[in-house]
Amino acid sequence: MKINRSELETVAVKPNQYPPEGTPEIAFAGRSNVGKSSLLNLLTGRKKLARVSGSPGKTRTINFYRINDEFRIVDLPGYGYAKVSKSVSEGWGEMMERYLEQRESLRKVIQLVDIRHAPSKQDVEMYQYLRHFGLDGIVVATKADKISRNQLPKQMKLIRQTLKLSAEDIVIPVSALKKTGYEELLDTMEEILEA
Ligand code: GTP
Ligand code: MG
Repeated sequence: MKINRSELETVAVKPNQYPPEGTPEIAFAGRSNVGKSSLLNLLTGRKKLARVSGSPGKTRTINFYRINDEFRIVDLPGYGYAKVSKSVSEGWGEMMERYLEQRESLRKVIQLVDIRHAPSKQDVEMYQYLRHFGLDGIVVATKADKISRNQLPKQMKLIRQTLKLSAEDIVIPVSALKKTGYEELLDTMEEILEA
């Protein structure tokens, strides 16, 4: 699959602000700063479609991007950002739960983890949550440019073990910086949309 057209369709914090159901959606989840917005820019070939920032907590809304007039990529706000207040993090939880549990158009959630580290407790909880709703199965290991080729198998194994992935679950190493890994991810997304 190639992405030829992409645009920000809607920014939402609650369900009555979501765009209409009926177009399949693939969402990106992961902790703050893991690289969700960067991945969206990589896939669409647009440097500034989604805002990227060195300071965690950049994306605080649910952003719906219309892709090829065919499906949507949904950039979810990151979790695990310590500096947000309790009321903000509670609001985040409610916002995420409503989308993940109620959205009929949602086909799959791609969970992003940083390739350099073992997935955090929150990453594991998130993945278990997705599994509960049948939205699991695909993990992107971000910032692949930050480790050496030699370290790759060890880090991939660590991710698989920590998230308790099964043999069918897919982990794709991607670098937004070096622009690697995205073709495999696009092919996987195409399979999800065709399923
Ligand atoms: P929130 O919106 O806060 O949830 O963050 P996010 O997950 O959208 O992360 P974002 O894409 O804003 O990236 C966070 C930081 O990581 C930025 O400084 C990016 O430049 C950097 N980054 C993202 N992807 C990569 C990558 O593949 N390689 C390297 N080296 N840096 C990356
Ligand atoms: Mg973001």
